[in-house]
Amino acid sequence: MEKSINLPKLNAVKYSLNLLKSNKVIGLGSGSTIEMLIEEISKMLRIENLDVSFIPASTQTYFKLINLGIKPASLDTIDEIDITFDGADEVDERKYVLKGRGGALFREKILSYFSKKYIIIVDDSKYSKKIGEKSSVAIEVLPYAINPVFKKIQKICKKAEIRYGGRIKDGPIITDNGNYIIDAYFGEIDDPLELSNQINSICGVIENGIFYQNITKIIVGYEKEVKVY
Ligand code: A5P
Repeated sequence: MEKSINLPKLNAVKYSLNLLKSNKVIGLGSGSTIEMLIEEISKMLRIENLDVSFIPASTQTYFKLINLGIKPASLDTIDEIDITFDGADEVDERKYVLKGRGGALFREKILSYFSKKYIIIVDDSKYSKKIGEKSSVAIEVLPYAINPVFKKIQKICKKAEIRYGGRIKDGPIITDNGNYIIDAYFGEIDDPLELSNQINSICGVIENGIFYQNITKIIVGYEKEVKVY
């Protein structure tokens, strides 16, 4: 059976492709939107000979590049990242973003921090008035500290879960950095900055999926148009 196309997502991805061309070093986040972007990049590279390097945020993105014949670069071999493209789980009109459904939030945050421009690409289903309405806050935690950190997180949110693999016996998922993820549900988040600081102040927390710094643009795809915030 043919895969059905998410047109809003594809529209946002195609719009982003135009922003990519004048840059030399390009960071790529993780997730299905970024995989779609890489597919479009590989089509473009078959037609245009561009001298660009791609830095993947995750093993998923690394292998997607490799499978399409694009050689990934690394943070060790470049001076700076011109632009990074990334997907998101939820964005809001204040330009706050929730990420981490794929467990790659820490490395994605590193790319966002070290990039001159950081572009978020989503379809319209990810757009909310306030983040937290639809998605949990993903929190990467050092395995050694998972139990006390989990108890602390439970006290400050509505519901928390340690993230497990999809099938029975898979156990907790392990990030590319060898850590666990806690999903914490807060509902609409009034002050994402304060919440992010509160979460990160718990010893044993590596990073959380609230993004608010260095977001240059949020590109939201709809069926028939693209809006840029
Ligand atoms: C990876 O950890 C995430 O931050 C993804 O970027 C986010 O979940 C968006 O993924 P999709 O593009 O698959 O919706």
